Amino acid sequence: MLLLAFYFSHERIMVRLEFIKQLAALSAMWKVGPVLARNIPNPEINRKDFGNNFSWGVATSAYQIEGAWNVDGKGESVWDRFSSKPGHIKDKSNGNEAINFYHRYETDLKLLKSLNFKNFRFSFSWARILPDGTGRINEKGVDFYNRLIDNCLDLGIEPWAMLYHWDLPQALEDRGGWANRDILGWFSEYSDLCTRRYGDRIKHWMVLNEPAGFTTLGYLSGIHAPNRTGIGKFLASVHHACLCQAEGGRIIRRNVNQGHIGTTFSCSHIEPHKLKDSHQRAALRLDVVLNRLFIEPSLGLGYPYNELPFLRKIEKFMVPGDQEKLKFEFDFIGLQNYFRVVTKPSLIPFIWANRVKPDDDAELTEMGWEVAPEGIYNIIKQFSKYPVKEIIVTENGAAFPDRLINGKVHDPQRIDFYKRYLQNILRAKNEGVNITGYFAWTFIDNFEWVEGYRPRFGLVYNDFSTQERIIKDSGYWFRDFLK
Ligand code: FCB
Repeated sequence: MLLLAFYFSHERIMVRLEFIKQLAALSAMWKVGPVLARNIPNPEINRKDFGNNFSWGVATSAYQIEGAWNVDGKGESVWDRFSSKPGHIKDKSNGNEAINFYHRYETDLKLLKSLNFKNFRFSFSWARILPDGTGRINEKGVDFYNRLIDNCLDLGIEPWAMLYHWDLPQALEDRGGWANRDILGWFSEYSDLCTRRYGDRIKHWMVLNEPAGFTTLGYLSGIHAPNRTGIGKFLASVHHACLCQAEGGRIIRRNVNQGHIGTTFSCSHIEPHKLKDSHQRAALRLDVVLNRLFIEPSLGLGYPYNELPFLRKIEKFMVPGDQEKLKFEFDFIGLQNYFRVVTKPSLIPFIWANRVKPDDDAELTEMGWEVAPEGIYNIIKQFSKYPVKEIIVTENGAAFPDRLINGKVHDPQRIDFYKRYLQNILRAKNEGVNITGYFAWTFIDNFEWVEGYRPRFGLVYNDFSTQERIIKDSGYWFRDFLK
């Protein structure tokens, strides 16, 4: 009783609210921001320098492109539900139609081929295949991906499949979602089904897209679907995501002959604001949440408690044998990088660190993310110290305020962005890091989660009123670069 009284006391609630608010600000830093960008000239780069076996592709995700949210028996996902509620999406939009890739995939894949990309990353919509999350299979949904995969192969495009890119079936969220340990069984059933149905044709598989993203934004700050908050739900979802990450790898290994198996991590190079000890320690703490939390358990290193003691609370969700189950030897890890983070100590409970806003003259994208090409070099070098076999940059790109003028989209800032980031990737590669591929985020402008349709990340411009696709200058740049 006393405990309950403490838990619900005013002070306690205020601390919790402040904590959630601060973390919201922190997790929002990779999703929200003002508009400003500069164009800086850059040296040329050559595709050949990356070698002939380097995989060049574009990355997409189901909810952001497919649309057809309730077509052919698809079930509801947490993003369908979340975006239908007022106040969640900044431009009051939703992904119901998105870019209607579900009906336009054939022409879109031809367009991709015309840009000389040979690899296409997409994700399966779990609720399209299993409308209730488990049990009943929706064969029409299964067939959509069969057609998509066959179409890729016919065109000579290699499909790269992501099992989970944030769109959990709502039916499973109603049973607790990622915070419920049963997700391990649900996710295994779904992964088993996908790999059995598609494993004969898809060789490249990824398990989770940015688990740090969907656990912090979805279960801690609640900025994203399923809009849940609290440290307990967050830690539970982290542990269950780590278990699924490894289990998914094992299922792919079992079902896919000679599968090339990876999983992806959001990551940012973290720099202390000042050289002081306190700033360096703040950087170490933030590094745990932004970069280390999901990869280290998979390598058998356990959770990085030392720099962030509150993480020990995760043990509450562990059962005997879990340490072993967290491990899986991936063939590659996917790094997804957009910006660097400068940090200093702060009063945010548990983490005691916060981001320092970029300087006024910093170069920012439309998301407010600082353009920091050397950040990708630094973070690749950091991850290359882990015993990983292969690194692929599975997402990197930028949103700028593109305008369609006389049927053309001139986006020199984006071309400049890609050149400078690619140069830094090449630098790491030339220093011996085994980087084997690069996927631009993204192919065609699409639904950017809570930001709606405003930020345009595509190499191809989309007119959302007509669904007309117009290749941007950056798309043509890639076409010539990849020739
Ligand atoms: C990544 C997400 C991707 C997209 C880009 C801009 O964090 O994985 O879906 O939103 O950011």
